[in-house]
Amino acid sequence: MKPKNLTMEEAASIPLVGLTAWQALVERGKLMRDQKVFIQAGSGGVGSFAIQLAKHLGATVATTTSTSNIDMVRGLGADVIVDYKTEDFEAKLSDYDLVLHSQDGKALEKSLRVLRPGGRLVSISGPPDPDFAEAIRAPWFVKLFTRLLSFGARRNANRLDTTFSFLFMKGSGDQLRQIATLIEAGAVRPVVDKVFPFESTNEALAYVETGRAKGKVVIKVK
Ligand SMILES: NC(=O)c1ccc[n+]([C@@H]2O[C@H](COP(=O)([O-])OP(=O)(O)OC[C@H]3O[C@@H](n4cnc5c(N)ncnc54)[C@H](OP(=O)(O)O)[C@@H]3O)[C@@H](O)[C@H]2O)c1
Repeated sequence: MKPKNLTMEEAASIPLVGLTAWQALVERGKLMRDQKVFIQAGSGGVGSFAIQLAKHLGATVATTTSTSNIDMVRGLGADVIVDYKTEDFEAKLSDYDLVLHSQDGKALEKSLRVLRPGGRLVSISGPPDPDFAEAIRAPWFVKLFTRLLSFGARRNANRLDTTFSFLFMKGSGDQLRQIATLIEAGAVRPVVDKVFPFESTNEALAYVETGRAKGKVVIKVK
Protein backbone atom coordinates (compact mmCIF):
# COMPACT_ATOMS: atom_id res chain seq x y z
CA MET A 1 0.00 0.00 0.00
CA LYS A 2 1.09 3.55 -0.66
CA PRO A 3 2.61 5.18 2.44
CA LYS A 4 -0.18 7.30 3.94
CA ASN A 5 1.94 10.43 4.19
CA LEU A 6 2.93 10.56 0.49
CA THR A 7 1.27 11.94 -2.61
CA MET A 8 0.82 9.57 -5.55
CA GLU A 9 3.73 11.26 -7.35
CA GLU A 10 6.00 10.88 -4.32
CA ALA A 11 4.95 7.26 -3.88
CA ALA A 12 5.67 6.52 -7.54
CA SER A 13 9.23 7.72 -7.04
CA ILE A 14 10.00 5.09 -4.42
CA PRO A 15 9.89 1.46 -5.66
CA LEU A 16 12.84 1.37 -8.09
CA VAL A 17 15.27 3.32 -5.93
CA GLY A 18 13.94 2.06 -2.59
CA LEU A 19 14.25 -1.59 -3.54
CA THR A 20 17.64 -1.07 -5.19
CA ALA A 21 19.02 0.68 -2.11
CA TRP A 22 17.46 -1.89 0.24
CA GLN A 23 18.84 -4.85 -1.70
CA ALA A 24 22.30 -3.25 -2.02
CA LEU A 25 22.67 -2.10 1.59
CA VAL A 26 20.55 -4.50 3.63
CA GLU A 27 20.27 -7.76 1.68
CA ARG A 28 23.59 -7.91 -0.18
CA GLY A 29 25.72 -5.42 1.75
CA LYS A 30 24.57 -6.52 5.24
CA LEU A 31 25.26 -2.98 6.45
CA MET A 32 25.40 -2.72 10.24
CA ARG A 33 25.32 0.08 12.78
CA ASP A 34 28.66 1.96 13.07
CA GLN A 35 29.96 0.62 9.76
CA LYS A 36 31.18 2.94 7.00
CA VAL A 37 29.49 2.97 3.60
CA PHE A 38 30.45 4.92 0.48
CA ILE A 39 27.40 5.70 -1.67
CA GLN A 40 28.29 7.16 -5.06
CA ALA A 41 26.22 9.95 -6.61
CA GLY A 42 24.31 10.87 -3.45
CA SER A 43 22.17 13.43 -5.29
CA GLY A 44 20.82 10.87 -7.78
CA GLY A 45 17.69 8.74 -7.51
CA VAL A 46 19.31 5.71 -5.88
CA GLY A 47 21.87 7.73 -3.95
CA SER A 48 19.35 10.08 -2.32
CA PHE A 49 17.35 7.13 -0.99
CA ALA A 50 20.41 5.05 -0.06
CA ILE A 51 21.98 7.82 2.05
CA GLN A 52 18.82 8.08 4.16
CA LEU A 53 18.48 4.30 4.52
CA ALA A 54 22.14 3.93 5.54
CA LYS A 55 21.77 6.67 8.16
CA HIS A 56 18.65 4.96 9.48
CA LEU A 57 20.71 1.75 9.82
CA GLY A 58 23.25 3.69 11.91
CA ALA A 59 26.11 3.76 9.41
CA THR A 60 28.57 6.54 8.63
CA VAL A 61 27.94 7.67 5.06
CA ALA A 62 30.34 9.11 2.52
CA THR A 63 29.10 10.26 -0.86
CA THR A 64 30.20 11.98 -4.06
CA THR A 65 28.39 14.87 -5.65
CA SER A 66 29.12 18.08 -7.54
CA THR A 67 29.54 21.45 -5.81
CA SER A 68 25.96 22.59 -6.38
CA ASN A 69 24.46 19.54 -4.64
CA ILE A 70 26.61 19.53 -1.51
CA ASP A 71 23.90 21.08 0.69
CA MET A 72 21.33 18.66 -0.64
CA VAL A 73 23.35 15.52 0.28
CA ARG A 74 24.24 17.02 3.64
CA GLY A 75 20.52 17.52 4.26
CA LEU A 76 19.92 13.85 3.49
CA GLY A 77 22.42 12.90 6.20
CA ALA A 78 25.76 12.36 4.43
CA ASP A 79 28.66 12.61 6.89
CA VAL A 80 31.58 12.80 4.45
CA ILE A 81 31.01 14.66 1.19
CA VAL A 82 33.44 14.49 -1.72
CA ASP A 83 32.99 17.08 -4.47
CA TYR A 84 33.91 14.96 -7.46
CA LYS A 85 34.58 18.06 -9.55
CA THR A 86 37.49 19.14 -7.34
CA GLU A 87 38.43 16.14 -5.19
CA ASP A 88 39.44 12.51 -5.64
CA PHE A 89 37.38 10.21 -3.42
CA GLU A 90 40.22 7.71 -3.23
CA ALA A 91 42.43 10.28 -1.53
CA LYS A 92 39.76 11.08 1.06
CA LEU A 93 38.19 7.70 1.92
CA SER A 94 39.72 4.56 3.43
CA ASP A 95 38.77 1.43 5.36
CA TYR A 96 35.16 1.40 4.21
CA ASP A 97 33.01 -1.65 4.92
CA LEU A 98 30.77 -1.24 1.89
CA VAL A 99 30.60 0.64 -1.41
CA LEU A 100 27.41 1.14 -3.42
CA HIS A 101 28.88 1.62 -6.88
CA SER A 102 26.77 3.27 -9.59
CA GLN A 103 29.37 4.88 -11.85
CA ASP A 104 31.91 3.76 -14.47
CA GLY A 105 34.70 1.19 -14.49
CA LYS A 106 37.35 3.68 -13.39
CA ALA A 107 35.30 4.55 -10.28
CA LEU A 108 34.86 0.83 -9.64
CA GLU A 109 38.60 0.20 -9.70
CA LYS A 110 39.25 3.09 -7.30
CA SER A 111 36.34 2.14 -5.04
CA LEU A 112 37.79 -1.29 -4.36
CA ARG A 113 40.82 0.47 -2.90
CA VAL A 114 38.77 2.45 -0.36
CA LEU A 115 37.43 -0.79 1.16
CA ARG A 116 38.98 -2.44 4.20
CA PRO A 117 40.13 -6.06 3.77
CA GLY A 118 36.95 -8.14 3.84
CA GLY A 119 34.87 -5.18 2.61
CA ARG A 120 32.23 -5.49 -0.11
CA LEU A 121 31.47 -3.57 -3.26
CA VAL A 122 27.96 -3.88 -4.66
CA SER A 123 27.64 -2.50 -8.17
CA ILE A 124 24.36 -1.49 -9.78
CA SER A 125 25.97 -0.18 -12.96
CA GLY A 126 27.97 -3.21 -13.96
CA PRO A 127 29.69 -5.21 -15.09
CA PRO A 128 27.18 -8.06 -14.63
CA ASP A 129 28.79 -11.15 -13.08
CA PRO A 130 28.25 -14.92 -13.38
CA ASP A 131 26.11 -15.08 -10.20
CA PHE A 132 23.70 -12.65 -11.82
CA ALA A 133 23.62 -14.75 -15.00
CA GLU A 134 22.93 -17.81 -12.85
CA ALA A 135 20.14 -16.03 -10.95
CA ILE A 136 18.33 -15.08 -14.14
CA ARG A 137 18.95 -18.57 -15.59
CA ALA A 138 20.78 -17.15 -18.58
CA PRO A 139 22.00 -19.50 -21.31
CA TRP A 140 25.62 -20.74 -21.16
CA PHE A 141 27.00 -18.18 -23.60
CA VAL A 142 25.56 -15.29 -21.54
CA LYS A 143 27.12 -16.86 -18.43
CA LEU A 144 30.43 -17.02 -20.26
CA PHE A 145 30.05 -13.42 -21.40
CA THR A 146 29.40 -12.18 -17.85
CA ARG A 147 32.44 -14.17 -16.67
CA LEU A 148 34.59 -12.32 -19.20
CA LEU A 149 32.98 -8.92 -18.59
CA SER A 150 33.44 -9.06 -14.84
CA PHE A 151 36.83 -10.82 -14.85
CA GLY A 152 38.86 -7.66 -14.13
CA ALA A 153 36.57 -6.45 -11.34
CA ARG A 154 36.50 -9.86 -9.66
CA ARG A 155 40.29 -10.28 -9.96
CA ASN A 156 41.00 -6.79 -8.57
CA ALA A 157 38.59 -7.37 -5.70
CA ASN A 158 40.25 -10.72 -4.92
CA ARG A 159 43.71 -9.20 -4.87
CA LEU A 160 42.57 -6.65 -2.30
CA ASP A 161 40.80 -9.30 -0.19
CA THR A 162 37.46 -7.63 -0.91
CA THR A 163 34.39 -8.82 -2.81
CA PHE A 164 32.72 -7.51 -5.94
CA SER A 165 29.14 -8.35 -6.87
CA PHE A 166 26.62 -7.03 -9.37
CA LEU A 167 23.06 -6.36 -8.25
CA PHE A 168 20.01 -6.15 -10.47
CA MET A 169 16.99 -5.09 -8.45
CA LYS A 170 14.12 -7.58 -8.08
CA GLY A 171 10.54 -6.74 -7.20
CA SER A 172 9.60 -7.55 -3.59
CA GLY A 173 6.29 -6.72 -1.93
CA ASP A 174 7.71 -7.65 1.45
CA GLN A 175 10.61 -5.21 1.14
CA LEU A 176 8.30 -2.47 -0.17
CA ARG A 177 6.16 -2.94 2.95
CA GLN A 178 9.23 -2.45 5.15
CA ILE A 179 10.22 0.62 3.13
CA ALA A 180 6.69 2.04 3.46
CA THR A 181 6.93 1.62 7.25
CA LEU A 182 10.19 3.60 7.28
CA ILE A 183 8.62 6.35 5.18
CA GLU A 184 5.56 6.57 7.41
CA ALA A 185 7.85 6.77 10.44
CA GLY A 186 9.67 9.70 8.81
CA ALA A 187 13.02 7.86 8.60
CA VAL A 188 13.18 8.25 4.82
CA ARG A 189 11.53 10.83 2.59
CA PRO A 190 11.13 10.83 -1.18
CA VAL A 191 13.28 13.21 -3.19
CA VAL A 192 11.37 14.25 -6.30
CA ASP A 193 13.15 16.59 -8.67
CA LYS A 194 10.50 17.10 -11.36
CA VAL A 195 7.04 15.78 -12.25
CA PHE A 196 6.26 15.70 -15.99
CA PRO A 197 2.79 15.26 -17.51
CA PHE A 198 2.36 12.07 -19.56
CA GLU A 199 2.45 14.08 -22.80
CA SER A 200 5.98 15.21 -21.92
CA THR A 201 7.44 11.73 -21.41
CA ASN A 202 10.13 12.39 -24.03
CA GLU A 203 11.24 15.51 -22.19
CA ALA A 204 11.27 13.55 -18.90
CA LEU A 205 13.53 10.89 -20.41
CA ALA A 206 15.78 13.53 -21.97
CA TYR A 207 16.09 15.20 -18.57
CA VAL A 208 17.07 11.92 -16.90
CA GLU A 209 19.60 11.32 -19.67
CA THR A 210 21.38 14.57 -18.86
CA GLY A 211 22.60 12.77 -15.72
CA ARG A 212 21.85 15.87 -13.62
CA ALA A 213 18.57 14.83 -11.96
CA LYS A 214 18.38 15.52 -8.23
CA GLY A 215 16.48 12.55 -6.81
CA LYS A 216 13.68 11.14 -8.96
CA VAL A 217 11.85 12.20 -12.09
CA VAL A 218 8.18 11.21 -12.19
CA ILE A 219 5.67 10.99 -15.05
CA LYS A 220 2.11 11.83 -14.04
CA VAL A 221 -0.30 9.70 -16.05
CA LYS A 222 -3.47 11.61 -15.20
N1 LIG B 1 21.08 -2.59 -11.22
C1 LIG B 1 19.91 -2.06 -10.85
O1 LIG B 1 18.99 -2.74 -10.43
C2 LIG B 1 19.74 -0.55 -10.95
C3 LIG B 1 18.64 0.07 -10.36
C4 LIG B 1 18.54 1.47 -10.42
C5 LIG B 1 19.53 2.20 -11.07
N2 LIG B 1 20.57 1.55 -11.67
C6 LIG B 1 21.67 2.29 -12.32
O2 LIG B 1 22.35 3.01 -11.31
C7 LIG B 1 22.87 4.20 -11.85
C8 LIG B 1 22.38 5.37 -11.01
O3 LIG B 1 20.96 5.48 -11.16
P1 LIG B 1 20.18 6.75 -10.65
O4 LIG B 1 18.77 6.62 -11.11
O5 LIG B 1 20.45 6.97 -9.20
O6 LIG B 1 20.91 7.89 -11.49
P2 LIG B 1 20.48 9.39 -11.69
O7 LIG B 1 19.48 9.79 -10.67
O8 LIG B 1 20.16 9.63 -13.13
O9 LIG B 1 21.87 10.13 -11.39
C9 LIG B 1 21.96 11.49 -11.54
C10 LIG B 1 22.86 12.00 -10.44
O10 LIG B 1 24.19 11.49 -10.63
C11 LIG B 1 25.10 12.46 -10.19
N3 LIG B 1 26.37 12.25 -10.87
C12 LIG B 1 26.62 12.29 -12.19
N4 LIG B 1 27.92 12.00 -12.42
C13 LIG B 1 28.50 11.76 -11.21
C14 LIG B 1 29.80 11.40 -10.78
N5 LIG B 1 30.80 11.23 -11.64
N6 LIG B 1 30.01 11.22 -9.47
C15 LIG B 1 29.01 11.38 -8.58
N7 LIG B 1 27.76 11.73 -8.91
C16 LIG B 1 27.51 11.91 -10.21
C17 LIG B 1 24.46 13.78 -10.57
O11 LIG B 1 24.87 14.74 -9.65
P3 LIG B 1 25.61 16.07 -10.15
O12 LIG B 1 24.58 16.83 -10.97
O13 LIG B 1 25.99 16.72 -8.87
O14 LIG B 1 26.76 15.62 -11.00
C18 LIG B 1 22.95 13.50 -10.46
O15 LIG B 1 22.38 14.00 -9.25
C19 LIG B 1 22.43 4.24 -13.32
O16 LIG B 1 23.49 3.69 -14.07
C20 LIG B 1 21.22 3.31 -13.34
O17 LIG B 1 21.02 2.74 -14.60
C21 LIG B 1 20.69 0.20 -11.61
